[in-house]
Amino acid sequence: MKRTIEQIEAIIDPSLPLISNLSNLIALLYHEEKDLNWVGFYLIDQKKQMCYLGPFQGKVACTTIPIGKGVVGTCALEKHSIYINNVHTFIGHIACDSNSRSEFVAPIFNKKELWGLLDIDSPKLDRFNQEECLDLEKIASIVSKLVSNS
Ligand code: SME
Repeated sequence: MKRTIEQIEAIIDPSLPLISNLSNLIALLYHEEKDLNWVGFYLIDQKKQMCYLGPFQGKVACTTIPIGKGVVGTCALEKHSIYINNVHTFIGHIACDSNSRSEFVAPIFNKKELWGLLDIDSPKLDRFNQEECLDLEKIASIVSKLVSNS
């Protein structure tokens, strides 16, 4: 995933609107990494206690996820990354795409405030090893930097 991280760093253009960078970044991740069926952002609305669908690649997905619900909402509540190696073992998993078998979600911060989530689904059981989870956290931290500077 190191090459993908380099490509993500190269593709970001701070002179563009945030949404343009996020959209291309998510397309890059989806197409460069194997065995992914959904990659995207959920954006936080703290007032409404809701995660809203943002730029993504994959099948049509749930547009709203309450904070505290599903893997995404749990990550929003706990504010640290979560890796579920078998989504069927996670009580309350929300199956937007029934092909998903494992899922990684990482928080994205605008300075210190939770801004959104990076959500990655795979049709493979236990798709990510420890090193890949760290790489995905690195991608989330690149996005946090981008969001914080926008
Ligand atoms: N599986 C997620 C829902 C989002 S989709 O995977 C795109 C969850 O349990 O929160």
